[in-house]
Amino acid sequence: MINTALPYSGPIGVFDSGYGGLTILKNIRERLPQYDYIYLGDNARAPYGTRSFDVVYRFTLEAVKYLFAQGCPLVILACNTASAKALRSIQQKDLPGIDATRRVLGVIRPTVEALSGLTESGVIGVLGTQGTVKSRSYDMEVAKLYTGYTTVSQACPMWVSLVENHEADAPGADYFVDKYVGELLAQNKDIDTVLLACTHFPILYDKIRERMPENIKVVCQGDIVAGSLADYLARHPEMDGRCTKGASCRFLTTENPESFSSLARIFLNEHVDVSHVDF
Ligand code: DGL
Repeated sequence: MINTALPYSGPIGVFDSGYGGLTILKNIRERLPQYDYIYLGDNARAPYGTRSFDVVYRFTLEAVKYLFAQGCPLVILACNTASAKALRSIQQKDLPGIDATRRVLGVIRPTVEALSGLTESGVIGVLGTQGTVKSRSYDMEVAKLYTGYTTVSQACPMWVSLVENHEADAPGADYFVDKYVGELLAQNKDIDTVLLACTHFPILYDKIRERMPENIKVVCQGDIVAGSLADYLARHPEMDGRCTKGASCRFLTTENPESFSSLARIFLNEHVDVSHVDF
């Protein structure tokens, strides 16, 4: 039950432009099974990665407000594009006017924080959407936290569409995986760590891993983000106390619930009931 009396307590909101955030939700629920969650996929308007800064910001703000209206005291933007293009504005400009006690967290900072134990050469490959790559959010965050690290980025504009259109296992996906992995590696021979900096990309993990030289680590964000959320809740008992603990998860999509349910079932290995929402 969502308690809408002040101060708000309720489920943790997990937002993505579509299916991709399920790769984050899966790890979060494994790590923190006791909490209630609402997953919201804006499948009707995905992909976000090729959209302008203003549009991603507007769509993401609408989603955050919707999740707040469902009682979420805390929302995770489980989407790199939304984290890159909307998180800072929402945190600094919008939250104080909406409800300064609620929180919106992204995935870029925790991912970059996890890099120190991973790279030896200091050359990090970043595979993301056009929006994430163009925003240079990873480059800036890495430069903020480390000295001597180099980032090499490659936009992979077709990958999200392959996932959203249920084509991730189809032969057509091989061509685009080859293409973007090849283009990334051609940029710098010292890359030893590659971040899948888009939550949709772990769905293509096997194909990506196959095409990557063995010495290169391929990093998915799910576990990293789950660990960072656990740490955040431990450090913020006031927020932890407002996140209800009934071990439930509701799934919402702005597109077709049956399509969402069939893909989510394969991915999460459980049947999920999905509701359609408009906001
Ligand atoms: N899954 C999202 C990300 O992590 C965005 C994909 C998209 O909608 O383009 O960037």
